[in-house]
Amino acid sequence: MRVVVALAAAVYLGRQVKKPTRFVGRLFARLMNLSHAPLTDWALTHLEIGKDGVALDIGCGGGRTIEKLAAKAAAVYGIDYAPGSVAESRARNRRPIAEGRVFVERASVSHLPFADSFFDLATAIETQYYWPDVEADMREILRVLKPGGRLMVVAESYRGARNDWLLGPVMRLLGSQRLSVDDHRALFQAAGYAEVAVFEELRKGWICVIGRKPLPCGFPEIRQ
Ligand SMILES: C[S@@+](CC[C@H](N)C(=O)[O-])C[C@H]1O[C@@H](n2cnc3c(N)ncnc32)[C@H](O)[C@@H]1O
Repeated sequence: MRVVVALAAAVYLGRQVKKPTRFVGRLFARLMNLSHAPLTDWALTHLEIGKDGVALDIGCGGGRTIEKLAAKAAAVYGIDYAPGSVAESRARNRRPIAEGRVFVERASVSHLPFADSFFDLATAIETQYYWPDVEADMREILRVLKPGGRLMVVAESYRGARNDWLLGPVMRLLGSQRLSVDDHRALFQAAGYAEVAVFEELRKGWICVIGRKPLPCGFPEIRQ
């Protein structure tokens, strides 16, 4: 009986992490803000954001990454397909939303409600495991990035990492995709990104991968 209850609880927790519901899920989104804070702060050290930059956080959860980006960029958009995540992100970013600098919408990564070439930067933290078709979804992100714009994908678990023996089985239980360093690099390249850079925090088993949308031929190089 105890095993059944423990399994049911694990499945319920897994579902909330994957897609936080409107009420209980908000609590999970808040907890994820806390538990992902060190990973997020580490990942953001690999990225410069110009003060005129427009950023998109995909799978924004409880909205802490939006808040961090909004402290540097001109405007930040967050999207998430879960009602609990959207509600929590909006609550956490109430002030910049009122100032018209932050926007949070309910949407799937597979169909981003934005014009082509709109963003300088997109971030995806601890979310890509759950996307329905990662390569196609990364192409959808490429569409909304400006030429030269960057996508950063961050995970606290990947195949071959030091913590894989522990997190690997948990992630498999959640039905999430397990990628190695080489898989990440190949995925970015297959989706059309250039200048792919991989950063690992080996002691913690974290990975941060950044790729750029190529500039059209003959386009002058302007880096932020
Ligand atoms: C583990 S949480 C991470 C949240 C946040 N990025 C963080 O670091 O705390 C995963 C988030 O991705 C969202 N998500 C998963 N699949 C998605 C999809 N296909 N489109 C949009 N959001 C998605 C979930 O709703 C959830 O809020």
